[in-house]
Amino acid sequence: METTKNNDLKNNGLNNDLNNDLLGVCYYPEHWSVEKWLADVKIMKDLGLEWVRIGEFAWSRLERKRNDFNIKWLREILDLFHEKNMKVIFGTPTATPPKWLIDQHPDILSVDQWGQVRQFGSRRHYCFSSLRYREEVKRLLSFLLKEIGSHPAIKMWQTDNEYGCHDTTLSYSSDAKKGFRKWLKEKYREIHRLNEAWGNVFWSMEYHDFDEIELPNLTVTEANPAHQLDFQRFSSDQVISFNKIQVDLIREHQSEAKITHNFMGFSFDFNHFKICKDLSLASWDSYPLGYLQNFVEDAKHKKKYLRKGEPDFQAFYHDLYRNLNGDFAIMEHQPGAVNWAKYNLSPTGKTLRLWVWEALAHGASFVNFFRFRQVPFGQEQMHEGLLFSNNEPNKSYHVVQEVAAEIKKVNLAKREHLAEVGIVFDYESHWIWKIQPQGENLNYFDLLFSWYQALRKKGINVDFIHPDFSNYRDHKLLIVSGLTRIDPRGLEVLNELACPVIIGPRTGNKTENFQIPPNLLLEELQSLLGIRIQGVETLPPEEEVSILREENAAFTRWREFIKVSEPETPNVPEASAVKISLKTFDDYPAFVEKGRFGYLAGIPNAALLEKILLKYLEKSNLTPLPLPDGVRLVKDKERSYFTNYGNKTQNLRHLLGSAKILLGSEEVSESEITIVETI
Ligand code: GAL
Repeated sequence: METTKNNDLKNNGLNNDLNNDLLGVCYYPEHWSVEKWLADVKIMKDLGLEWVRIGEFAWSRLERKRNDFNIKWLREILDLFHEKNMKVIFGTPTATPPKWLIDQHPDILSVDQWGQVRQFGSRRHYCFSSLRYREEVKRLLSFLLKEIGSHPAIKMWQTDNEYGCHDTTLSYSSDAKKGFRKWLKEKYREIHRLNEAWGNVFWSMEYHDFDEIELPNLTVTEANPAHQLDFQRFSSDQVISFNKIQVDLIREHQSEAKITHNFMGFSFDFNHFKICKDLSLASWDSYPLGYLQNFVEDAKHKKKYLRKGEPDFQAFYHDLYRNLNGDFAIMEHQPGAVNWAKYNLSPTGKTLRLWVWEALAHGASFVNFFRFRQVPFGQEQMHEGLLFSNNEPNKSYHVVQEVAAEIKKVNLAKREHLAEVGIVFDYESHWIWKIQPQGENLNYFDLLFSWYQALRKKGINVDFIHPDFSNYRDHKLLIVSGLTRIDPRGLEVLNELACPVIIGPRTGNKTENFQIPPNLLLEELQSLLGIRIQGVETLPPEEEVSILREENAAFTRWREFIKVSEPETPNVPEASAVKISLKTFDDYPAFVEKGRFGYLAGIPNAALLEKILLKYLEKSNLTPLPLPDGVRLVKDKERSYFTNYGNKTQNLRHLLGSAKILLGSEEVSESEITIVETI
């Protein structure tokens, strides 16, 4: 079988052609007097910033009333950036429809799951399904493209801003209802098909016409999961088609335009793989301390990384977003304390430098800091920038200066990431876990993150693989965990490829229509693995299912009762025989192997995950590296980057051998980085 299956993978080669133009900033000219602009651009240039993103919230200044446009200021600032040779990313200002527009068409507003209209007064208040809003977006964007579309300063477009932020992917408006009914009609064509697919005979939920179908909110108890899943799919498709309107208009104007969207961490409500088919590259907004505060629950862990951020979160998203379509960038990077987390700590300058290098090490085409200057008014007045609002430099200013100089020293052209292991990631599986978790604390992200973290601690680099496996290259090991719904193409590839694969738990246990297959496992997987699943149970946090004769190893939260369906017989060749390698204390198979596949029948705790991973790394001829505590390693074809998130200086001599040091030293102290020629 051919090993390169990445036909869809568009490598824009951004990080190769742009050489060392790697730093930039987000700037809001509309917040500052024109007199400040020239001096601001000079500061940016002196700092070594090459990119600047503008525009994404400026609608009210670009169109004061319907068709009363004011584009003069925008031209002036674009000219200024062009004169100074800075590359502009223009963000289309559609995340903030202005008041006059909402007053004329209040039906643009989105509606939350409780049926309340989400009012004007902040941002992202529009509903993706509003056809009216789509027309308004076309009108504004067509005008902007005509006026500034060919401006030589603009090197990239960003559509809107952070789709889904503030829980805005799903809207329960009447436009959404109309759109959903149409979407269902196109999908099922006849109502009896939908009734069957959703299993509507259950609780007498059968419909006679698509126009009877409501949105799955405000029901007495949980709505039909298949109904919810289709609504989630529809809502995701609405984001994608809304985005496509903008992409098509921009491309009509400039067929070669580079177009991105700025994604977020912990944002799974729409399918990022699908939307990226329309974009040139992915970008994302990285706020390591904010994410630590809002998403880490373990108090000890949180305290340990209070001012550094979780050492593997950012890396997880760098790897995920790089794999959406081949290139990625950091559109916004935390520069100091933010305003929106549970607690807003201030990173040290050293830490900020570490984060920037982490992003570059993962192949980021550029890193933009959010924002240039702290703004003294509005919701984000407490959010720091490179400059304080009185124009004095904040500590991040000095970091940018330092990193800009280092980038010149370590030539970063040609960063081709090297990953040996693939983890399959699927947005639909995430939705299925969320819709019917079957217990508290069950979360698809957590499961994948535990694999990712264990690999990263061993110095093994990871790619995230599309659910249809289309970007599978010659990875030496694949992890297919929690993939409740398997794409049929994914199943085919799984059969064909040659590397070892760890499958399960909770993999292939739902059909396309959110039903359970016979034996709780897709037929194809039953024969591939030689097992059946007879039942599952979920566990409270204080309960574990221990593994027989393996100290500390156990299942937590979720376990499956497996039966081997192909008993070992003398006629079955050794390589394809089913083998029970681990059992639970109550004598059920816990880990079953057949040929190159291993199936894990529960969510592993750290000790069990470690045991299985080590076995499969060996099977894949991969050597885990003895990285000191807190140290992580990222590799590209030319360089190895060691980062230290721990609080002790660590010596890397045993890992570096004779590799030439490009930055830092063999001793890597807290929050430091050492770059060497690849080891
Ligand atoms: C991002 C957003 C920015 C700004 C920033 C503050 O989520 O895109 O506009 O709000 O957060 O940290």
